[in-house]
Amino acid sequence: MLVDLHVHLRGTLLRDTVILLAKRNNVSIPSSVISAARYGWHDFPSFLKSYDLITSVVKSANDLEQVATSYLQRCSLLGGSYVEFMLSPPDLARTGVPFFDQLRALQAAADRARQEWGVHSCLIATAVRHLGPLAAIEAARMATSIRSNILVGFGLTGDENQYSVGDFAEAFSIARGEGLKATAHAGEHCPAETVIEAIEILNLDRVGHGVRAVESPNVMRQIASSRIPLEVCLSSNVALGLYPTITAHPIGRLANSGCVITLGTDDPSFFDTDLLQEYALARTVGSCLSDYIINKNAIEAAFCDERTKAILTA
Ligand code: HPA
Ligand code: ZN
Repeated sequence: MLVDLHVHLRGTLLRDTVILLAKRNNVSIPSSVISAARYGWHDFPSFLKSYDLITSVVKSANDLEQVATSYLQRCSLLGGSYVEFMLSPPDLARTGVPFFDQLRALQAAADRARQEWGVHSCLIATAVRHLGPLAAIEAARMATSIRSNILVGFGLTGDENQYSVGDFAEAFSIARGEGLKATAHAGEHCPAETVIEAIEILNLDRVGHGVRAVESPNVMRQIASSRIPLEVCLSSNVALGLYPTITAHPIGRLANSGCVITLGTDDPSFFDTDLLQEYALARTVGSCLSDYIINKNAIEAAFCDERTKAILTA
């Protein structure tokens, strides 16, 4: 039983699906990009560019349902049992798919995956940091405009180097005010102290990545004692050059210092990974982590309701 708590829905797009949707939706993507390994990026800025280009093939609610269903089916084949997808509602709303229709599509995918494959899933609506605080407020307003069983959290993705975390306090306050849980990318590209800043200012329930906390014993201690879980994405961190190899990854040191570790695939198609591989990598790091501990952490940290948690624990 494996759990993916950090996955960008459109980061799961397989090459064949990109080709199919590009044709269906008349989106022109250079074949050199589609055929390049990992879609041809080489650092974080070029990753974000490649991500925007490749994911622009998703245009309709049907596309969204297809992409989500495909990932959930693949997870079931790997032994996955729970997935929390991140998706920014205004992205598709701008191309003419109202948030209500996005939710309906994801609910349909979630219902099918639960009934046919026993895989549960929820949605974290996200704001994109480099689009700025006003766009984040728009995302939070959209996310809180509709009640849905699957919509459980609000998140912040994008380029951590843009804006300060305080600029997003209002968006998170709107989302939390309506009962959504909160997570944000922090301590992936920016130093340890920014993890504490994000936790305190945005009132986070979890941290996306947070691995650079390891650079400050004091920050690591604070995170460990707060019991706020880190969503660690091993392949992503190595692919984006945070660490030269998996053996240099600090997940073991974080775990041994008492930080609550969960795993995510981040953008599996861009980082050439899957859930099984992330669990397998975590097993190689020589720490107190085991699949059992990671799963226990992940189910406790999940944003879904208690009934779903009980099913996942049974
Ligand atoms: N990091 C930050 N923002 C993102 C990512 C990521 O891996 N994928 C999509 N948006
Ligand atoms: Zn991410």
